[in-house]
Amino acid sequence: MPAVVIVGTQWGDEGKGKIVDLLAPQADLIVRFQGGHNAGHTVVVGQEQFVLHLIPSGILHPGKIGVIGNGIVIDPAALLEEIDSLTARGIDLKDRLFISHRAHLIMPYHKAIDKESEKHKGTRKIGTTGRGIGPTYADKMARVGLRVADLLDPDVFRQKLTNSLAEMNYLLGRLYSVKGFDVETVYHDYLSYTARLKAYIADTAEILNDALAANRRVLFEGAQGTLLDVDHGTYPFVTSSSATSGGATTGTGVGPTRIDRVLGVAKAYSTRVGEGPFPTELGEDQGGAALRERGQEFGATTGRARRCGWFDAVVVRYAVRINGLSALAITKLDVLDECTDIKICVEYRRGGERLTTIPAVAEHYEQCVPVYETLPGWKQSTVGITRYEDLPLNAKRYLERLAAVVGCPLDVVSTGSKRDQTIVMRGAFDA
Ligand code: IMP
Repeated sequence: MPAVVIVGTQWGDEGKGKIVDLLAPQADLIVRFQGGHNAGHTVVVGQEQFVLHLIPSGILHPGKIGVIGNGIVIDPAALLEEIDSLTARGIDLKDRLFISHRAHLIMPYHKAIDKESEKHKGTRKIGTTGRGIGPTYADKMARVGLRVADLLDPDVFRQKLTNSLAEMNYLLGRLYSVKGFDVETVYHDYLSYTARLKAYIADTAEILNDALAANRRVLFEGAQGTLLDVDHGTYPFVTSSSATSGGATTGTGVGPTRIDRVLGVAKAYSTRVGEGPFPTELGEDQGGAALRERGQEFGATTGRARRCGWFDAVVVRYAVRINGLSALAITKLDVLDECTDIKICVEYRRGGERLTTIPAVAEHYEQCVPVYETLPGWKQSTVGITRYEDLPLNAKRYLERLAAVVGCPLDVVSTGSKRDQTIVMRGAFDA
């Protein structure tokens, strides 16, 4: 069983970084396939905390190969910063990191447009991370993007940059009344990045397919989550990439027949950062603030406070279907340790209607009211428990109910941020 995909089943921040880090020792290559440095994967190794934005978190394990696939959008300055910070902490990336030559580049004007466009949207804003993600994917689809491979041919790069800036500077000036960018400055900045990135640039689809042909194990590391997927999420309150399992194939050049297993990661409750519908959200004094405090729910990328609420089984059931999940990993169970009662949303009501799935129109989704089942809490610590049978009875009942309502087996339960604070019922690479 050489290829496993990991995806988020909610609105991102499910704890995928820890699950990837846990499975990485069994893999040979770990590949990111979508998104960019809007993602933030936090991994705790011993006493040290690492926050990775672009480089697959599996790279923290010696000898593993990290791949940044073609579906990623890369800000070269942010990538170099990450490379430098890992190197400074003793993690050698030489011959261990490969960047797709087909990945798109985030340019300074993409970041400017992201910020200006959000400002102009006013109350309709999405609450983006401001990293230029949306405008870069928009240019990719409009077929005017610049790619990593273009950096390797300075004449081609200069020509494409000149063409793009002619349009983008006009847009920035006329629509948003802000200053544009100088071709020569951007050109020289990007060439200086290229000098340092060159060693990592490769045909990563070839590397991955060759590895699979040689029966090596590949772990596909998703970023964000199913409800932030550009097609299947709460559009338009989504990111601009394919965060569901399908993205693992288009974003790497590995065909779907090569994927053996898809593991979804779900937090034992729900969080969302940014704007958009969130039916089970709890008000600050209804338990939202307490969950945030206990779960330390602050964005790894932007530091923003995350909105918190009960587990939404409608959301995760939807994710089970859209991703074709083989199994689930439930994270942060210990955050619920002090709850007297715990709620699970099993369906929604909208007007007189009963809904068991997610409406396509965000305005309709905003009107959905959760219907809850209430289970008794366990009121004792689960922190660090490593065997399922050692969990309190009510914690097991909660987990079993989650698995039943979402219709998917649980393979992993996480009981703390450290690597060893985990219950593994079935390994992702087990046949
Ligand atoms: P963008 O990806 O910066 O365009 O932001 C679009 C939406 O996705 C916003 O609501 C962001 O808060 C959200 N988002 C993007 N990346 C992440 C992530 O890694 N975790 C959680 N939310 C994210």
